[in-house]
Amino acid sequence: MIYLAFALAAYLIGSLSFAVVVSRVFGLADPRTYGSKNPGATNVLRSGNKAAAALTLAGDCFKGWLAVWLAQKIGPQYGLDEAGVALVAIFVFIGHLWPVFFKFVGGKGVATALGVLLGVNGWLGLATLVTWLVIAYAFRYSSLAALVAAVFAPFYYGLLFGTDEILLAILVMSALLVYRHRANIGNLLAGKESRIGSKKKAG
Ligand code: G3P
Repeated sequence: MIYLAFALAAYLIGSLSFAVVVSRVFGLADPRTYGSKNPGATNVLRSGNKAAAALTLAGDCFKGWLAVWLAQKIGPQYGLDEAGVALVAIFVFIGHLWPVFFKFVGGKGVATALGVLLGVNGWLGLATLVTWLVIAYAFRYSSLAALVAAVFAPFYYGLLFGTDEILLAILVMSALLVYRHRANIGNLLAGKESRIGSKKKAG
């Protein structure tokens, strides 16, 4: 029962799509209607509003961090164990991907996954963020950077902490993140993926 309560709370937190909310506050078009149609920071950046993109990134990252932090901070008082924290990590991520407040049309999970990883461990989040930055700087593709970081994150966790339920949660998040980037993978392979900052994006 406690698993269910925390998973549900995490799902609801994850369902707050900052791309849509921030765009509304800034008076911008709904990010689900332009560019890649993805409600995420990369696509909000295509609106040309850097502040809105940065706030989207911060908000989506923060909710991932918050859910894990709450699970770790108050969870034990209610008997939530490590497996419960792993469940919270997965469900806040699922909330972002399939948000109940936005007709289940969510994002690809990059910022939220980063927040989850930062919540699990600061060094883990930092190593994954640095991986994203290095690939993004080298190739200028947000999606490629996310895909590479998603592959590396479970390895970083395994090296730092070994195998446990949290590693399983990170593997599930990485697999879902790759799945959500399947159009990007197709575009990358076809040489059609738009680079960071470019306003144009095919599908
Ligand atoms: O954050 C999602 C990013 O990896 C790709 O976004 O809009 O280019 O599909 P987008």
